[in-house]
Amino acid sequence: MPTTVASPSSNQNQLLPDDRGVHDWYRFVLSFPPHLVRTYIERFGIDESQVVLDPFCGAGTTLVESKKSGIASVGMDSHPMAYFASSVKVDWSMSADRVLAYAGQVAESFNETMADVEQNALIRDSDTLQHTDSLIGLLGPEESKLLIKDSISPKPVLKTLALLHKINEHGDASLRNIGRLALAGALVNGVSNLKFGPEVGVGRIRADAPVLETWGERIQRMADDLRFVHDRTDIPARVIKFDARNMEQGLAPESVDAVITSPPYPNEKDYTRTTRLESVLLGLITSRNELRQVKQDLLRSNTRGVYKDDADDRSVDGFQSIAEISDAIERRRIELGKTSGFERLYARVTRLYFGGMFRHLSSLRTVLRPGAKLAYVVGDQASFLRIMIPTGQIIADIAESLGYRVIDIDLFRTRFSTATGQHLREEVVVLEWSSD
Ligand SMILES: C[S@@+](CC[C@H](N)C(=O)[O-])C[C@H]1O[C@@H](n2cnc3c(N)ncnc32)[C@H](O)[C@@H]1O
Repeated sequence: MPTTVASPSSNQNQLLPDDRGVHDWYRFVLSFPPHLVRTYIERFGIDESQVVLDPFCGAGTTLVESKKSGIASVGMDSHPMAYFASSVKVDWSMSADRVLAYAGQVAESFNETMADVEQNALIRDSDTLQHTDSLIGLLGPEESKLLIKDSISPKPVLKTLALLHKINEHGDASLRNIGRLALAGALVNGVSNLKFGPEVGVGRIRADAPVLETWGERIQRMADDLRFVHDRTDIPARVIKFDARNMEQGLAPESVDAVITSPPYPNEKDYTRTTRLESVLLGLITSRNELRQVKQDLLRSNTRGVYKDDADDRSVDGFQSIAEISDAIERRRIELGKTSGFERLYARVTRLYFGGMFRHLSSLRTVLRPGAKLAYVVGDQASFLRIMIPTGQIIADIAESLGYRVIDIDLFRTRFSTATGQHLREEVVVLEWSSD
């Protein structure tokens, strides 16, 4: 698959030091930066009486930033890990002191258990805990098979499961959620063997990892942040686990004043893979069937999540530009003699992706107040055999066909594609909804 390299002007996606608070409780590599949300809150003139929606809320950047700005928000995501993370990130009701007292109890109880485990020589026994195969004994065969091979070593898994057990044994539901989110963050930042660049891959194999310490540092930072935002606790922010292609079933009519969001892009990124480790270890996805269900509730943006009965493409049958791109991809595939099952699906997934976006934008109309403003962050792509997909322009065309007014297509940043030698645009499609 072609790679893209950020251009020098494109460090726009980074989390600024002043923005870390709450945002870095848990983030995706591809989360957009809080300053982008602030820009559009200001540009749209959103005030405290209005409601912002993010229908593809991911790790909750729009919701956290809206709440920091004193603006009510609603988020939606059909992935259980994104839903869990963003729900916890907008619950600021817990006092920092309670969080720290809870963390102290968990740590004490964890240390007692680990001392017993050490005494029983379980964790010291390198023969049983050195090999990834021994994950099956720790996690169960279904769960172990779901993990990316070598994504975590057995000793850190054993410690993670012991810590999770203690997290769930103490405190109330809100405290446990904070504990579990800190563990998810620790897993991808220090405990596992994963590296993100931006694709998820396996890096240096850590035979062991400081699980409690990494978790404790994260909990400490979360407590510090809670002290800082305590005066914003009452600003409403809620998250719904829902498929954004059926918006009208999830939200009340005319209940939203603005949308600031970044849906998936048509490339081979599989959101269930980048979050697989924490989803499985936290027990959010426990079997192949559950994984399949999660994939089916997501927009079709990669060939790993396409199913025989998928029919989103029918919604965009009349779009010449989409048909032309899809045909060009298929022609290129035949020319290059590419015959794998995934390559054969490139043309179809492109149509399914835009069909899903059509369904989303169509169902969104009823929940918008007249005059609502929308910002969609999307990137041009060339992942399917280097055929250029001008994502922003096509989404603007779809929106226009549904009665939205296209106000602008702003350039957010460019990324250099090593495959095509071209700069790929990442854009913000700015729309307005007026019901007449
Ligand atoms: C680019 S990410 C959003 C990142 C987010 N802006 C942030 O800062 O973390 C896209 C999100 O869309 C979600 N998603 C994909 N298809 C969806 C659907 N049909 N309904 C709701 N959410 C969906 C994915 O689970 C993923 O979390």
